[in-house]
Amino acid sequence: MRWLVDVTAELGLALARLPRMTDFNDPQQRLQINPIAVEDLLGRAQVVLDRSGPVGMAKGRRVLVTGAGGSIGSELVRQLADLEPARLILVEASEYALYTIDMELAERFPAVDRRAVIANVRDRAVIDALFAEEKPELVFHAAALKHVPLVEDNPVEGVRTNTFGSRNIADACIAAGVAAMVMISTDKAVNPTNVMGATKRLAESYCQALDLEGRGTRFITVRFGNVLGSTGSVVPRFQAQLRAGGPITVTHPEMERFFMTIREAVELVLQASALGISQHDEGKIYVLDMGKPVKIVDLARQMIRLAGLRPDKDVAIEFTGLRPGEKLFEEIFHGGEQPVPTRQDGILLASPRLVQLDEFRAGLAALEDACRHRDEGTTLALVKRLVPEFERMVHEPT
Ligand SMILES: NC(=O)c1ccc[n+]([C@@H]2O[C@H](COP(=O)([O-])OP(=O)(O)OC[C@H]3O[C@@H](n4cnc5c(N)ncnc54)[C@H](O)[C@@H]3O)[C@@H](O)[C@H]2O)c1
Repeated sequence: MRWLVDVTAELGLALARLPRMTDFNDPQQRLQINPIAVEDLLGRAQVVLDRSGPVGMAKGRRVLVTGAGGSIGSELVRQLADLEPARLILVEASEYALYTIDMELAERFPAVDRRAVIANVRDRAVIDALFAEEKPELVFHAAALKHVPLVEDNPVEGVRTNTFGSRNIADACIAAGVAAMVMISTDKAVNPTNVMGATKRLAESYCQALDLEGRGTRFITVRFGNVLGSTGSVVPRFQAQLRAGGPITVTHPEMERFFMTIREAVELVLQASALGISQHDEGKIYVLDMGKPVKIVDLARQMIRLAGLRPDKDVAIEFTGLRPGEKLFEEIFHGGEQPVPTRQDGILLASPRLVQLDEFRAGLAALEDACRHRDEGTTLALVKRLVPEFERMVHEPT
């Protein structure tokens, strides 16, 4: 595909993708020619996945997804819908995001019974009532605040959503007898250097402790790094710059990041969830193998070519220089948590520090109080006390 893009660009030809032959099994299908997506070029060789694990986990079950309209949540919803759940319950705070995924489901999966719920995971009473009514069997928690600089400037809001929202969902799972909750986390929770990562680490710690406590619900946490094309990531930014005729701005010619496509990340999340449910590795955390890093300038060049334009000739690439605290190469730090392989390619298992639940709950109560009083200083001090490895640095790029 990469070779074809290079050759056609040289010849000034457009390149497009025909539907698969199997798509024509559907008599409604018309001949639709699709543009090549940047994911087609940068997506690495896919790990071979066995569908039986995810099918066994979700088929015929009542599945609830929080943050169902977000980048990760909406892809989870799409892939889960394909596994024929008994019912899909979409929980989302943004009406527009919920509307969009709900419409898509109506069109693509009309047979899947579903309910779209506008709800905020911070709202404990609403969440408890919803869980009592719907009695989900499987819960994926993907609602979060994820933009590092924004959460840095709004730490109380970060704690309220990422830490207490997750605690509310976890507690509701136990109360409603949910079989398993999958906590979507991020590499940024490992030895966090920003508030977003630290608030997610708190959520992870709580879920790990509940998992070990063994109250009937399994808690499976899955961490991964940047996903290509998610909201606010570099791909939509480059697309907007391209639409405006350029230039495309890249911080540094050598800048590299790890990327996975959303589809691949979510496929692996479903695999890891099925693996977690079938195994006894309580208190551990699954980590997706992010593969090799991608040079951001190569990504920019590919995107310019895919738009039928020539890099540096039709669209300029400008280097803006590193911002304070920004790193050229992203390292995936695991600290003392060096993950080990599992029986599934692409999925590793880490053993992060465990917390003592009673003590941790007392710390969370104090933190909740500080948030209620909007006391930023105490909030940050308490986050640091509960996550001793948290070392706040200058803003990092998302
Ligand atoms: N996108 C990535 O590259 C990536 C990579 C690794 C991990 N993750 C993790 O996945 C999670 C989701 O990220 P995303 O990229 O899908 O973000 P996103 O912003 O696209 O989606 C989050 C969704 O949650 C909803 N939401 C936010 N607060 C809520 C609340 N209080 N109640 C209910 N809904 C709420 C938002 O409206 C949004 O639709 C985050 O924890 C993030 O750290 C994302």
